[in-house]
Amino acid sequence: MCPPEHFGVLYEINPWMHREVTVDLDRAGDQWSALVATLIEAGATVELLEPQPGLPDLVFTANAGTLNNGNYVASRFRHPYRQPEVDHDVAWFTDHGYNVAALPEGIGHEGAGDALPFRGVFLSGYRSRSDAGAHGPLSALLGAPVRPIELIDPRLYHLDLTFCPLDDRRALVAPSAWDRYGRKVVEALVPEPLVLDDDEMLAFCGNSVVVGRTVVMPSCTPRVGRQLELWGFDVVVVDIDEFLKAGGGCRCLTLALDVALGPTGPASGRSGAATEGAPPPSSETGAAR
Ligand code: ARG
Repeated sequence: MCPPEHFGVLYEINPWMHREVTVDLDRAGDQWSALVATLIEAGATVELLEPQPGLPDLVFTANAGTLNNGNYVASRFRHPYRQPEVDHDVAWFTDHGYNVAALPEGIGHEGAGDALPFRGVFLSGYRSRSDAGAHGPLSALLGAPVRPIELIDPRLYHLDLTFCPLDDRRALVAPSAWDRYGRKVVEALVPEPLVLDDDEMLAFCGNSVVVGRTVVMPSCTPRVGRQLELWGFDVVVVDIDEFLKAGGGCRCLTLALDVALGPTGPASGRSGAATEGAPPPSSETGAAR
């Protein structure tokens, strides 16, 4: 995570951002600190990236890159405003001992904001930000299968606004944000989906962080909360409305470091917000691993 010292809405690169809206930096700082405290309370270890002047969206570390088993694939941002973030992200991962890789020149991908592990594969969103052609190279660099999903609603421009893995069977899903093929992919992959309606999805319910059995959410409706509790999750709703002004929620403010999919097994000695993407014991995903 990256403290919001230099956060702001200084440009407009998604439909939620309006430059005339001012960010209350003190409030943003308090909201961010409360999110950190909530994640730690739930059992996460939080590591920090140093904030940089002139890079207001660096707080959204979900977009720093994609991780698997200690391999880090740097993002390649579509918008020039965010491109200078990459050097800072790469420096952090280099200093922390990850294997650092880059996508081929000309192929855009915005990291864990657009690639989420579930049952042995990465789902990867494309269109607004990431390129459809990223999935092949990403799969090779991550050593895991990647399935592309087209994001058809410009308001839900990253996959992590529409999909949130909860455990090895369940996920929050927002199918109306995906093309027909994407819906089929998720339908076949997720045994127990919790389908978000349009209001829930546009309130960023899906942009939640899961730490063990705790789901930390930017918003939650009684219906969604009830189902999550029935499934044995604790729901914590945090106020992060300063960040919604830039089109980002809780999930966008974090990057899971402990993703461990595929044949090489879990990376050892690393910690992050949650243990993500561990394949289930069922043989169903065997072919994908
Ligand atoms: N203002 C940022 C942008 O438009 C928000 C990033 C949200 N990140 C995410 N993982 N959905 O790039």
